[in-house]
Amino acid sequence: MHELGSDGSGRSAVADAAWWRSAAIYQLYVRSFADCNGDGVGDLAGVRAQLGYLAGLGIDAVWFNPWYPSPMSDAGYDISDYRNIDPVFGTLADADALIAEAHALGIRIIIDVVPNHASDRHPWFRAALAAAPDSPERDRFWFRPGRGPRGELPPNGWQSIFGGPAWTRVTEPDSSPGEWYLHLFAPEQPDFNWANADVRTEFEEVLRFWFDRGADGVRIDSAALLSKDGRLPEVSPDEPPGPQHPYSDRDDVHEIYRSWRRLAEQYQERVLIGEIWIPDAVRLARYVSPGELHTVFNFPYLSCPWDASQLRAVIDHTLALNGPVGSPATWVLSNHDVDRIVTRLGRPDTAFSLQRRPYFHSLPVDLELGTRRARAAALLTLALPGSVYIYQGEELGLWEVQDIPDERKQDPIWRRTGGADPGRDGSRVPLPWAGDEPPFGFSPAGSVVQPWLPQPKEWRDLTVAAETANAGSMLELYRAALAIRRSEAALGDGPITWLPSATGVLAFQRGAGVCCVVNLSAAPVPLPDHSGLLLASGVLDGQLLPPDCAVWLRTADQAGTPPR
Ligand code: GLC
Repeated sequence: MHELGSDGSGRSAVADAAWWRSAAIYQLYVRSFADCNGDGVGDLAGVRAQLGYLAGLGIDAVWFNPWYPSPMSDAGYDISDYRNIDPVFGTLADADALIAEAHALGIRIIIDVVPNHASDRHPWFRAALAAAPDSPERDRFWFRPGRGPRGELPPNGWQSIFGGPAWTRVTEPDSSPGEWYLHLFAPEQPDFNWANADVRTEFEEVLRFWFDRGADGVRIDSAALLSKDGRLPEVSPDEPPGPQHPYSDRDDVHEIYRSWRRLAEQYQERVLIGEIWIPDAVRLARYVSPGELHTVFNFPYLSCPWDASQLRAVIDHTLALNGPVGSPATWVLSNHDVDRIVTRLGRPDTAFSLQRRPYFHSLPVDLELGTRRARAAALLTLALPGSVYIYQGEELGLWEVQDIPDERKQDPIWRRTGGADPGRDGSRVPLPWAGDEPPFGFSPAGSVVQPWLPQPKEWRDLTVAAETANAGSMLELYRAALAIRRSEAALGDGPITWLPSATGVLAFQRGAGVCCVVNLSAAPVPLPDHSGLLLASGVLDGQLLPPDCAVWLRTADQAGTPPR
């Protein structure tokens, strides 16, 4: 076990116990962060080499996308061994060293746990394929006979979230066409049966394994999908998730998280974070009620258009639901599944939904406008009460790469929809670190293997090196904002008070000393009374805040409150 803050960061024990309530969490997509061994894929050695970058950015924790052994049919969300590291990323010893080094820098580590499904190469699934129908091995998954005279039709009409049917037929060990198994995602991702006691025990042991190695929390993948109605009722694709839904957000999933919470509390300061894509905010709040998950991702905020009244409504609604259950809100602008924020905010329609990605990709993009708005959105997001996620590359202002050649695309969504859905590769392109041409320092100099996804040559202006010490860069904006957020006790968790403002303007006070104003209208607006300017996302016009610009203002004469 490693002590946090052994660098003498001086954070008090009390503040530490609730670190997740205010944390700025960096989402690190290992494949695309930094490649140390020159194979074109990021690795843990690359992360270790850049821990100084992360510490300098001013984040409190890092969430790693899956790093486990995997055939990589879904970029690591198809896990064949939950207790090891994929050789492409490194070894368990690398992970141990990484956790220790991060802790020494005061950075906490959150790992991704994928409990809804395994890889079809997982030993349990191999054993299930080798066993007979109705065997204990098959009961850990969802095996069912097919319909039709020869069982040639899937057990029901459920569709995979990645396109196509949610069932695949197996060949039995005697070579006859056999049962079907359920996969809500790709066929390489068979769903676990959470009614099976082995599955429950196994995941509790997996959690212990990583908590014992020093992980500070887990991000729970597809957290609302675990429980399914064994009667397999048909469902219309438009059916909203809810307690009656046969495979999403069913009531019995909460019992699983209550037991995980009891386990997490046997350790100190470990957090459970749910990835839950249900639009029903009231039901979402249930997952963070006392004794369940600590926080959930805020996808309504991530999907909200750049519109003051809609953002205000989402923010108010989020706070109203989280407040009574005592959970802090979380705020997230993008992740590895959605379009990058610069691109989203540069389109004529600034909303986002997974289901409508082809439409959003068909729209024109004004990157300059999108970047201006993304800067303002960063200051808005970092000023809201609660914890915040920053998806790697967001701090550099990277855009969605929408012109990846078909032959380089990797996402199963693109394949399984026959190219109708462009998929998520555009948000997963390797980071540019330095230099004038690809791989921009992502891989070591002289590497012959290209990065696993191609980088746009225009990213030469968006490398860490190019943006460092460049006062107008996205990176310096993030560094400054995160430093202020850390030193101002009023930011992070705590109360928020809306201030009167013109139409199209969001203005709110945090504590006595800090106020945030965001102008989403088309005209400049006067700044409210203040005693100093803490940070601006763009150049002010005297006392006027230009459109698509945000500021943090000092609103009291005192020099602020003591750092938390
Ligand atoms: C989650 C992950 C996504 C993955 C899916 C299946 O939504 O964020 O990347 O493809 O689950 O595991």
